[in-house]
Parts: sequence; structure tokens; C-alpha cells
Amino acid sequence: VPAGRCVVAVDGPSGSGKSTVSRRLAAGLGARYLDTGAMYRALTWAVLRSGVELTDTESVAKVAAEADLRIGTDPQGYAVTVDGTDVSTAIRGAEVTAAVSAVAAVAAVRELLVDRQRRVIADAGRIVVEGRDIGSVVAPDAELKVYLTASEAARAKRRSAEDAADVAATAADLARRDRLDSTRKVNPLQQAPDAVVLDTTELGIDEVVARLREMLTERGAA
Ligand code: DC
Repeated sequence: VPAGRCVVAVDGPSGSGKSTVSRRLAAGLGARYLDTGAMYRALTWAVLRSGVELTDTESVAKVAAEADLRIGTDPQGYAVTVDGTDVSTAIRGAEVTAAVSAVAAVAAVRELLVDRQRRVIADAGRIVVEGRDIGSVVAPDAELKVYLTASEAARAKRRSAEDAADVAATAADLARRDRLDSTRKVNPLQQAPDAVVLDTTELGIDEVVARLREMLTERGAA
């Protein structure tokens, strides 16, 4: 382990508090932050724009391979661009959200992004990375692996507050995405055996971040 290296893997389903926790933890550590979900969303945006069918996995993989995807790693705010177009807002829209699980299930797309993610991590050295397969696949050697969970009701409430959508519709969509993300063949949402599991249903964000800071200090990694 190179001196000063500190990689934190944060995995969990949508609405578990991953993004807020990861960004605050990274900012507090003076570390970089990588939102791998945003990368899958950006390639999904490229696929939708290209007009290829989501079921045509070969074409989906080709569009993904040809897209010039760039993502910042500043926890205070980062842009995501595809072929020079800023897609930071578009990737949060309903169209991309509905299609992203299908694109994220394509093996060639995952290979491409896992590779990119590993390079970003190696360059940064100190970084908090959030996603679904970070502790299990992307960075199995992370100094700390966290798996965040929350009750379905709490997750739906948080997500609908974000999208201003109604809670019932959000709950249905979350359940659908979780099912797809957990049952796909390649790198499904997975709890690494050595991950620390935190249920955020009753815990405040600051409390979760404080606990993670303590764990890093105990491990001599922060
Ligand atoms: O965290 P998010 O909702 O922005 O992620 C968008 C989608 O991308 C999600 O449905 C699952 C997928 N994803 C993935 O398969 N692997 C990751 N490491 C991150 C996200």
C-alpha cells in the first residue's frame, strides 16, 4: 500500500444515501470522489442519442466504446460530458434512469467502465468511489468497504424528494431497478464479504460520515 493511499468503496442500492455520504466523506478527507453511477448514466445517454435498440447489445457496446466520456472528481461539484456535451443534468432525467439498468447489464460496457474507474482510482490515490460493484470488483483492495442500506420506504422517500416525483411511482421504479441491478449476470449489486454494513434508515448523514471517519482512523488510513 503506497503511503497516503486511501480508497473507500461505497456500495448499495439507490436511495441508500451513497452519494451524499460519499461526497461529504471525500470533502472531509480532502480526497477525490468518483460517481460510477454517473458514468453508466452518461453512456446510457449516448446510447439513447444514437438511437440503437437497448436490446442490441453489440451496438450498445459499440456506442459506449466510441463515446468520449469525461467525469470530474471534485466532491464539491463535477461535470460529466459526452463528446463535449455537458450531460450532468440530462443523466438525472427519467429517460436515462429508465434505460440505465439495461446498459449497465452489458458485459462489454462494464469492462470498459471498470477499467476507466481503476485508472481514475490509481491516479487519485485518495478517493471515495460509489457504485454497486466497487468493493466486490472495481477496488477489492480498498482500505475501507462500506455497504449502505435503508428500508424501501426510506429510500423511496429520499429519491422522490430529489426528483419531485410521487413516492409510490418512485418506490415502484426503485424496486424494478434494484431487481435488475441485483440479478444481472455481470457484476451485480453485491455486498463484499469484508464490507461494513450500515443501515441509514434511522441514521443521519452526519452520523454515518462520522462513523466512517472513525473506522478509517482506526485502520490508520485517514
Ligand atoms: O447510483 P445510480 O442510481 O446513479 O446508478 C445508475 C445505474 O447504474 C444503476 O441502476 C445501476 C448502475 N450502476 C452499476 O451497475 N454499477 C455501478 N458501479 C454504478 C451504477
